[in-house]
Amino acid sequence: MKYTLIKNGQIATGTDSFRGDVLIHGGKIKALADHIEKPDAATEVIDASGLLVFPGAIDPHVHMELPVAGTFSSDDFESGTIAALAGGTTTIIDFVTPERNQSLLQSLQERKEVAGKAVCDYGLHMSITRWDERVKAEMQQCVQSEGITSFKVYLAYKETIGLEDRELIAAMDWAARIDGLIVAHCEHGDAISYLQRRLLAEGKTEPRYHAASRPAEVEREAVVRAMTLAKITGASLYIVHVSTEDAVQEIAQARAAGQTVLAETCPHYLLLDEREYDRPLREAAAYIMSPPLRPPQHKGALWHGLASGYMQTVATDHCPFNLNGQKDRDLSDFTRIPNGVAGVENRLQLLYTYGVLENRISLNQFVRLVATGPAKIFGLYPRKGSLTVGADADIVLWNPESKSIISAKTHRQKCDTSIYEGFQVKGKPEIVIANGKIAFKDDQVLAHRGEGNYLLRAKTSDLT
Ligand code: URP
Ligand code: ZN
Repeated sequence: MKYTLIKNGQIATGTDSFRGDVLIHGGKIKALADHIEKPDAATEVIDASGLLVFPGAIDPHVHMELPVAGTFSSDDFESGTIAALAGGTTTIIDFVTPERNQSLLQSLQERKEVAGKAVCDYGLHMSITRWDERVKAEMQQCVQSEGITSFKVYLAYKETIGLEDRELIAAMDWAARIDGLIVAHCEHGDAISYLQRRLLAEGKTEPRYHAASRPAEVEREAVVRAMTLAKITGASLYIVHVSTEDAVQEIAQARAAGQTVLAETCPHYLLLDEREYDRPLREAAAYIMSPPLRPPQHKGALWHGLASGYMQTVATDHCPFNLNGQKDRDLSDFTRIPNGVAGVENRLQLLYTYGVLENRISLNQFVRLVATGPAKIFGLYPRKGSLTVGADADIVLWNPESKSIISAKTHRQKCDTSIYEGFQVKGKPEIVIANGKIAFKDDQVLAHRGEGNYLLRAKTSDLT
């Protein structure tokens, strides 16, 4: 088996930065040092002078080909993971979402069949959409034999997949006993349904009322409730897509009081705000996601939440829908517009440009937020998210000087719009290595359909 030697890169991990070399063999990192000699004449040498070298990123929150209201999110596991690789993400974690009457394990098998065409490695979270003895037994099987250690609960979407409080309590209690991590979508479902009905009855049907139906207080209430129930039951909690200053403050307080609460935000909440909903009706539909975009003042608080360590990951909640034919199918009622936006390809460029280069976060924090943090939280560390001997050779060689402009015309995501259209970004992956093979080079994705491995995940290794 051939060796690959990355020479003279500026290596960045979650904690350190140094100039050095990385030796790869058999899909794994074999050595990491200031200077490594070629082990044999056949070694492939990659000159990384002028490039940053960091662990392949992990996006722990994506929805490929998610069935929603008679349609599917427009990236399937193949196109979505091609876009991920091109953006420097070598692992994604998607979701299994069983029907309320369905076996969790049956739903897992179905999702694995759909996910099998992934081009990069992938894991799955299990969603808990009802509570009964069978769910309880199957959760335990997920942890013991299916490599699934995180369980998603929705405090929103009560009509379909959301849980009542008594079900949340039972799921959290059981997750605590089996060492599972509760992953919570925190919005007050009943309050949203009430506001939606009221707004529609008042003739307020346009996309901007999507935001009005899900104000900051519905997130805050649900974050506080989830944290309260987690504290009572002893569950470890990870809160997805935090979008408001209020939620960050509540999380910071709970953490200061010693509770195990972890949190993520997404690039769209850091970089965009509710003024996008003032666009003409059809255009505004492209910005419908849940939680919605917020008033501009929340963005600074979210950056502060990342810099201060109150939130440990930046994920994308990648769930694209085309404007043409999906989002614009029925613009007469904001509740009928599929929720979700694309982002898996853009996460690193956006966070590097507007975070690292604007001194909001350090380079090591960047690596922690996109790679090491998700790996530790979701039981993939040190195999993923780290540049250590024995880890999977998932490595990004990043050109910090490259400039580009994000556009739906050039992105690989299968979506006819980009919410970041026209954003100028600096830095891009020059080469992406996945499991020791060059998966992206010269702007071409070289990995193939089905090359991604299903990842058996262990328990969370870092709850700080
Ligand atoms: O709008 C969103 N976030 N769509 C994806 C599904 C979810 O709620 O995470
Ligand atoms: Zn989501």
